[in-house]
Amino acid sequence: MYKVCPPRKEQGLTLFFTWLSGSGKSTFAKIIYAKFIEEGKRPVTLLDGDVVRYNLSSELGFSRKDRYINVNRIVFVASEITKNGGIAICAPIAPYDSVRKEVRDEIQPLGGFILIHVDTPIEVCEERDRKGLYAKARAGIIKEFTGISDPYESPDDADVVIDTTVLSPEQAAQQILLHLESEGYVGTDGGA
Ligand code: ADX
Repeated sequence: MYKVCPPRKEQGLTLFFTWLSGSGKSTFAKIIYAKFIEEGKRPVTLLDGDVVRYNLSSELGFSRKDRYINVNRIVFVASEITKNGGIAICAPIAPYDSVRKEVRDEIQPLGGFILIHVDTPIEVCEERDRKGLYAKARAGIIKEFTGISDPYESPDDADVVIDTTVLSPEQAAQQILLHLESEGYVGTDGGA
């Protein structure tokens, strides 16, 4: 007996964006989400860091343990989506390398898993400071803030690294789509 796998472009897929607050993860995740909605072939779900925090993890803080629980909740949802042939787009900070590797090990047997490092320099994230959180972290008002008073372990296994200092959001999205196409996760007929 052997199991017949559908081609990659018909399998479920998780796209996992990682890096700091203010790096642009949500922006890229939303652009890719829109591209897949346009494609209309597989159901697509966006699990943005802040949205998950608000809806699924509001009781959690930012200790290593709480971040672990938070990421695991995201992964539970993403794995169910992937298993059922959908596309899950996740955009948490997920600062710990070992946790991200666990995520890959959990999802890969169910479908595709693509780790995307949104490599915006911390100086740029801090300068933007759209939510005013970096200023609060520098002032010590927010504790355990990733990149300032809490660690981020850079991935050595990212499938795509986006250099946001040279690419526009649209160009970055294009880079991700080209990668997905070259790996067979999306069709070559012009659709996502
Ligand atoms: S994770 O570490 O558990 O993956 P997650 O992506 O859910 O983090 O949440 C990060 C968001 O929470 C940030 O974009 C920021 O808006 C907010 N935030 C509030 N406090 C912190 C903190 N101490 N460290 C990082 N982000 C924080």
